[in-house]
Amino acid sequence: MRPNGLVIAIDGTAGTGKSSVGKAVAAQLGYGFLSTGEMYRALAYTVFEKQVSAEDADGVLQVAKQMVFSFERQPDAKLRVLVDGVYLGPEKLHLEETGNVASKVSTNAAARAVLTAKMREAGEKGGIIMEGRDIGTVVFPDADVKIYLDASAKERANRRFKQLQEAGQTPDYDKILASIQERDYRDSHRAASPLKAAADAVRIDTSDLTLEEVITRVRKEIDCKIG
Ligand code: DC
Repeated sequence: MRPNGLVIAIDGTAGTGKSSVGKAVAAQLGYGFLSTGEMYRALAYTVFEKQVSAEDADGVLQVAKQMVFSFERQPDAKLRVLVDGVYLGPEKLHLEETGNVASKVSTNAAARAVLTAKMREAGEKGGIIMEGRDIGTVVFPDADVKIYLDASAKERANRRFKQLQEAGQTPDYDKILASIQERDYRDSHRAASPLKAAADAVRIDTSDLTLEEVITRVRKEIDCKIG
């Protein structure tokens, strides 16, 4: 085991509950929780701000190299991603458009290598749950526990629809479903570190499970390792 505890990888498609599950379990264990999509989102936002095209491979790489990432632990276990010492905030990082650009810039293999090195630094001492698309396959192929979460696209679109409604918006279900399907396709068909379950990952379909049920399943896997 690493000095601060286990490295736990949670991968899977968007909207399967990776963040809610990862954060809750990390809080129970006293671990940090890093949502690596936020690093790709921060890259996407910075690329946009610097008026670099998401398709300009060298431009995106240069932006990635210039960004100084650091992590600030929050009381709820979350490791906030800072860029040059600044937290960009949910209104920039979690815009639908930032997610779409993130999915595009994350096809850039050289920029991925820069972000992957930062993720490894954040997790090398252990005591961390890291959530993303390639944590168990590329970032920490030797992670102590690997979880792969999935759910049907329709169920994920339902969840997103409800979230937006609760936030006072008037969402369009068909558009949400199409955007989820498009992102799934791009994330799993790109050449660089495509989304896939590691051979030794425990796969959980969350379509018909509550958050509590998923947390219980994940804890079972972790508790076996902690002993
Ligand atoms: O999980 P998210 O929606 O915040 O991720 C945004 C995008 O970042 C997603 O479309 C794919 C990319 N991503 C990735 O390629 N590898 C990761 N480890 C995490 C996210």
